[in-house]
Amino acid sequence: MPSKSSGTHCLVITGASKGIGLATATRFANAGHRIVNLSRTATPVPGAIQISVDLAQPVELEAIAAPLLSAVDGADVVTLVHNAALMIPGSVRDISASQLRALFEINVVAPMSLNQMLLPQMRGGSAIIYIGSTLSHRATRNMTAYVTTKHALVGLMRSTCQDLAGTGVHTCCICPGFTETEMILSYGEQALKNLAGLSTQNRLSTPIEIADFVYFAAGQPVLNGAVLNADLGFIEP
Ligand SMILES: NC(=O)c1ccc[n+]([C@@H]2O[C@H](COP(=O)([O-])OP(=O)(O)OC[C@H]3O[C@@H](n4cnc5c(N)ncnc54)[C@H](OP(=O)(O)O)[C@@H]3O)[C@@H](O)[C@H]2O)c1
Repeated sequence: MPSKSSGTHCLVITGASKGIGLATATRFANAGHRIVNLSRTATPVPGAIQISVDLAQPVELEAIAAPLLSAVDGADVVTLVHNAALMIPGSVRDISASQLRALFEINVVAPMSLNQMLLPQMRGGSAIIYIGSTLSHRATRNMTAYVTTKHALVGLMRSTCQDLAGTGVHTCCICPGFTETEMILSYGEQALKNLAGLSTQNRLSTPIEIADFVYFAAGQPVLNGAVLNADLGFIEP
């Protein structure tokens, strides 16, 4: 696992202003990593370098290349965590092309662009961790755009694994189940109870559980190319 004593470690993460991203940035900060966060609102992690950007806007994304490279300068090992994502409900009957494009921009295209910006700085021991979803390998009703982009993210991760062979950079996709964050807390009490009932543990995951797993995976090159569920055991219907 990456440790304080083995050189300068830097976490670059998207969406650490709240939820799973915030828990992950906190976990890496506690282990002594330099933290660089990309989101629209600032992360509350003390000492973190904040790069404010709307990842859905290609022009904004291009403009952060220089500050991003400067933020990772001098790091021996970089962990890049693609965590930020947008979810828009809608079925295959009514999702609009523009909604699908918007989701692809933040959920898939932004990770690919950030990889291209940072790979020249990523030495052996570095890692690219994609935050997928259990909806990266199954589907549920009325989530067409989200399901499609989360499946695409697995394709990007597998291609990352193949294309970076020999570099010493490893990658995997961690797929959370229902996790206590703003993304789902607005569903209401009864819906959350129902979702909790879909796990064998009869509860939602906590952001820190996912964060601990991301931290673990970042230090495990053996997990290269893996799609890893972190869902407390989903009860099959
Ligand atoms: N919660 C769950 O049940 C669950 C289940 C499976 C997978 N996941 C996945 O876990 C990851 C984190 O989800 P979460 O539940 O922690 O979500 P969340 O609490 O809603 O946080 C989303 C993060 O993404 C950032 N973000 C959203 N749109 C952005 C944009 N246009 N530009 C820049 N940053 C943007 C937000 O930052 P700003 O608003 O400050 O920009 C925020 O920090 C996502 O990939 C999600 O798909 C979550």
